[in-house]
Amino acid sequence: MLAPRYIWIASLAATVILLLYVASLFLGFSRQIQEVGVRVEAEEVLLPLPKKVTLISVEEAMLYRRSIRDYLTTPVAIEKLSMILWAAQGVSETKWGLRTAPSAGATYPLEVYIVVGASGVALEEGVYLEAGVYKYDVHRHSIKLVAEGDRRAELAKAALGQEWVENAPVVIVICAVYERTTARYGERGYRYVYIEVGHAAQNIYLMATALGLGTVAVGAFYDDEVARVVGVEQRERPLYIMPIGVPQQPYVTSFEEIGSYYSARR
Ligand SMILES: Cc1cc2nc3c(=O)[nH]c(=O)nc-3n(C[C@H](O)[C@H](O)[C@H](O)COP(=O)(O)O)c2cc1C
Repeated sequence: MLAPRYIWIASLAATVILLLYVASLFLGFSRQIQEVGVRVEAEEVLLPLPKKVTLISVEEAMLYRRSIRDYLTTPVAIEKLSMILWAAQGVSETKWGLRTAPSAGATYPLEVYIVVGASGVALEEGVYLEAGVYKYDVHRHSIKLVAEGDRRAELAKAALGQEWVENAPVVIVICAVYERTTARYGERGYRYVYIEVGHAAQNIYLMATALGLGTVAVGAFYDDEVARVVGVEQRERPLYIMPIGVPQQPYVTSFEEIGSYYSARR
């Protein structure tokens, strides 16, 4: 029989060992995330910084761009999501914070949200971003959690049941605050905002294509329903939904094929 004193020492040692084990698991986990350049701080995710990642030219991205509606269940890597958000509204000039897409009078009316599904965005092998709605912070190149849970099914319902909105691992929703542009340009500002969202969407299309991903610009949806599902701020109005995922079938063509199309018509 062990004396009560030894039992007490043994249980204290066991507790210390258990605590050390739990702490090492936690530290290992945070280090793993930092290694891939992603820092998850409370409800903000600092995205990997934008850098040159693609090997295809702009003309090839244009050639291979197609609206893609069928995706694999494969998650989108955070590095790729980072590049797509940067293409949509990221900073490309450091004096004034001008962006990758042009804006009338640099009034920047657009706000970008992402609706992330369960296991939709991979931070690394087997580690995923929590499902939810996140808002892109242009000047910190980060995303901030605004609502928890997988809202893709509800979003698809608000988009007339277009299943690609539900099936994509992550879905971009571009909104606009019209007043930022109409305050300077009056009624004409509305036209400028509509033009501008097209610039951002085309950047998303081309970047997704260059990264081996697919997307489709979705304009058919009930505005108020999308606004409610995403949980946008009062002045923000949704303009475009763009599901993002790995294409089930990448679109294939060549400049030779396009050349023959033209030659046959000359
Ligand atoms: C303003 C606009 C709204 C669109 N809305 C939808 C939509 O609601 N659902 C959809 O599946 N595709 C939508 N599209 C994608 C078009 O169907 C697609 O661009 C067109 O068929 C040409 O194919 P491509 O993009 O592969 O060249 C939209 C495109 C634009 C420009």
